[in-house]
Amino acid sequence: MTPSDVKATLSFSDGSPKMDLPIYKGTVGPDVIDIRKLYAQTGKFTYDPGFLSTASCNSTITYIDGDKGELLYRGYPIEQLATQCDYLDTCYLLLNGDLPDATQRSDFHKLVINHTMVNEQMQFFLRGFRRDAHPMAVLTGLIGGLSAFYHDSTDINNPEHRHVAAIRLIAKMPTLVAMAYKYGIGQPYMYPKNDLSYSGNFLRMMFGTPCEEYVVNPVLERALDRIFILHADHEQNASTSTVRLCGSSGTNPFAAIAAGVACLWGPAHGGANEACLNMLEDIQRQGGVSKVGEFMEKVKDKNSGVKLMGFGHRVYKNYDPRAKLMQETCNEVLAELGLENDPLFKLAKELEKIALEDEYFVSRKLYPNVDFYSGIVQRAIGIPVNLFTGIFALARTVGWIAQLNEMISDPEYKIGRPRQLFVGAASRDVQPVGER
Ligand code: ACO
Repeated sequence: MTPSDVKATLSFSDGSPKMDLPIYKGTVGPDVIDIRKLYAQTGKFTYDPGFLSTASCNSTITYIDGDKGELLYRGYPIEQLATQCDYLDTCYLLLNGDLPDATQRSDFHKLVINHTMVNEQMQFFLRGFRRDAHPMAVLTGLIGGLSAFYHDSTDINNPEHRHVAAIRLIAKMPTLVAMAYKYGIGQPYMYPKNDLSYSGNFLRMMFGTPCEEYVVNPVLERALDRIFILHADHEQNASTSTVRLCGSSGTNPFAAIAAGVACLWGPAHGGANEACLNMLEDIQRQGGVSKVGEFMEKVKDKNSGVKLMGFGHRVYKNYDPRAKLMQETCNEVLAELGLENDPLFKLAKELEKIALEDEYFVSRKLYPNVDFYSGIVQRAIGIPVNLFTGIFALARTVGWIAQLNEMISDPEYKIGRPRQLFVGAASRDVQPVGER
């Protein structure tokens, strides 16, 4: 970390001694004030629920400028990665720090492909679930369960174990997501086919059957690959911070990633694309575009508890760059499938138009996020709504594992242990039951 010449000084109105706090500069983005010695020197904690002003780590992986609407993976703009690279290039980049050359690229592809199958016992584990279980419930279990199947890659402190676990997770996630889907609809599992691309293989495992040859549609393959690239990492969001915190105890990588999957499930995070599509379908059922005005009034009424799902972001206070790319993909996919007049897409466009002009959204800097369009694309491809967050988890696995590896390799790494401002009862005595 690069120290800044500027120092922060903390002073107190009760005359307690002042304290100088070092400041560190990032490559880009806000500087940070180092408060690590604050408690030891002042006996006080900082208070920052929701981490609105707290950097929990230093990182070299992903940079977001929320005001500019900029997203960089290892310095490369998301727009360039989404148009010039594929998902496995992006995985290599996130894990290793730079894009692969031709040999590294083909070696990495071979390595991932070698790990696409899952232990045959996994299907018996899967059988314990109800057929109508939510895929995220199933995936949380299956991914946590990997630690019971792959004992030789569970030592988080061993770099070789972490590497093998990373490759296994990236390779097996599509297989597990597709298995969870096939189990739910009662179709046979499709084994991976390693001469297909990462996304092509996933499409086949999802929509192919053993009865006939599955032909991958290149437009859908590219669309899915783009969804994966756009969701691959997003710095210290809730699920990534969960993975880091969980992994900081020294637990195995599969358990830490399962914790990330559980966190991602929430509708304020990865569950938003599912919630967004459910919202569109609700409005459609109630009358579609003609009901948009009424719906927007509810969104703006604080007492209604209704939010415009797919809008707003903790960090982006400008257009989410991923939403722009996703909108492009959305147009391509709908055109390929002849769904340009899809009523849900029209409804989404109408909601977006109103929201971008409405004072409520403009003044709060609420713009569409990636989930606003990714749900429509996935639905057009034929992915069921309740699997959307599973697709997000598949794509984000590489980001989680890259962040976990970065944390474990950091010489300053410590178990994560936030503190609190205690406002409950002070010490008191238990009274006999009759006197309470
Ligand atoms: N619809 C209506 N109002 C909204 C929305 C929304 N989608 N998002 C934020 N607001 C309002 C808030 O009510 C608040 O209003 P106020 O200042 O009058 O109280 C103001 O905008 C600021 O919002 P916060 O909730 O303080 O912003 P925060 O950073 O805490 O939340 C979040 C961000 C959780 C993403 C929020 O915008 C939201 O719930 N959006 C809908 C869910 C969603 O799409 N999530 C996807 C996130 S992206 C991802 O995970 C890939």
